[in-house]
Amino acid sequence: MQLHAFDPQLFRHHAEIAIARLENHLADTSIRGLALTEPAGLLQTARNLMNSKSGDIAIGDDKKLGAILDLYIKTGIQVHSPGYMGRQFSGVVPLAGVVDFVSSIINQPSSFYEAAQLPSVAERIMAEELNRFIGWAPEQFAMITTSGGSLANLTAILAARNDKFPQCWSQGIGAVAGQPRPAIAVGDDAHYSVCRAAGILGIGEDQIVRLPLNHKKQICPQQARQTLADASARGLRVFCLIASAGTTSTGAFDPIDELADIAEEQDIWLHIDGAHGASLLVSDTLRHKLKGIERVDSLAWDAHKMLFVPAMCTLLFYKDKAKSFGAFRQNASYVFEKEPDIYTEYDSAEQNFECTKRPLIMNLWVLWTLYGPALFAEKIEYLCDLALHAYHIINAQEDFETVHRPECNILCFRYLPANLQASNYPDFQVAIRNRIRGDGKFFISKVDVDEAGALRIVMMNHQITTAHIEMLLQEIRIVGQQLLSGHTR
Ligand SMILES: Cc1ncc(COP(=O)(O)O)c(C=O)c1O
Repeated sequence: MQLHAFDPQLFRHHAEIAIARLENHLADTSIRGLALTEPAGLLQTARNLMNSKSGDIAIGDDKKLGAILDLYIKTGIQVHSPGYMGRQFSGVVPLAGVVDFVSSIINQPSSFYEAAQLPSVAERIMAEELNRFIGWAPEQFAMITTSGGSLANLTAILAARNDKFPQCWSQGIGAVAGQPRPAIAVGDDAHYSVCRAAGILGIGEDQIVRLPLNHKKQICPQQARQTLADASARGLRVFCLIASAGTTSTGAFDPIDELADIAEEQDIWLHIDGAHGASLLVSDTLRHKLKGIERVDSLAWDAHKMLFVPAMCTLLFYKDKAKSFGAFRQNASYVFEKEPDIYTEYDSAEQNFECTKRPLIMNLWVLWTLYGPALFAEKIEYLCDLALHAYHIINAQEDFETVHRPECNILCFRYLPANLQASNYPDFQVAIRNRIRGDGKFFISKVDVDEAGALRIVMMNHQITTAHIEMLLQEIRIVGQQLLSGHTR
């Protein structure tokens, strides 16, 4: 047995090797995106790092550990660099990583109070702290943590289905045969996890009612009424309307207040997918984008996006605490108690899908405790302002067009030089994005908007300035012209 692997001093030694590297990584402010590596080559490099036969690892094989960590850091998207403008996961507040590291060593799965006492009370505290920005009655709402926004959306839609079709949990979806078929309504730009959740719940593609968007890519309430009426005429019973607070493509915010009117009138559960944009609630100047949030039934909010903690940490809120127990209705005598006591009332296992779960809240709670909401509000405001600056900079260029005015920190645009004949190069924007990624200086993303490719930037790093945006545009011009001239690498 290699029991030295458990040696506390060896642990400290290894941790110091990692920390020294991470300090250098964080201190490196160079502009870099991703060192994209050909997978077969990386596979070989990784294999070469492994022991050829078991048992030949020397105690404190620092060189090998160092090489693995270097490779891990080098091949990652460089989320702490100003060159990273591509995705919604963040360069984290380093302290959150320190807490995550502690969680990994003390290993306290957090669905049950007895296994995670501090995370369980921290969850209660963060629920109250964040609810200050939502505004529900303190005793009536509930919040649980889940591993990601996708799982939070699934859980909320399941709770909605069980609320509106209580017989389905015990009798299955077939129990509604002969009645209007269960359906959900989504904005046409909803994240794919929403429709995936519907599929898991036995709601087919034909039962997904797509609500048309206006020119700002928000659900249009007037058209939504008509579309819902048409769905009803087709024999569908829309039980859940899922709106976005920050769509993935363009960061658009659906009009929650107006949709809440419709939901109330038609007895529809209103769920907000705020995976990206719910964090704007902590900002006094941006909160208005979620006007009406206190009227919704449930809200998914990713802290690993705009609250800058490591993936994953999602907060799933319910206006009505009782309904948070509606998603899953089970007995399991090995963990669930028939009569709650002062301890088990802090358990969340009956409300969340996971049994063993990371103590997801700890990273966020510690940041909140040490820095307060201002840390998040200031950074979010800076990032949203930066996207607006980028919009003005890009609009001032003759060879670029913006696709929308940014509502938060996401902006889509196109490079359209005079010598481009779009019909000859339909995938021009995607080709630019891929070549930029390959060059390794900037990391940006792409998306189809109005069925045409566009470049997409997501501002997640407060070190990005307008100078970096100018540099990115210059890089796009160089790459774009290389592509048009047939320049290959
Ligand atoms: C609007 C929206 N909803 C849901 C998700 C999925 O969240 P997660 O990646 O945490 O599962 C995303 C992810 O980007 C998103 O942008």
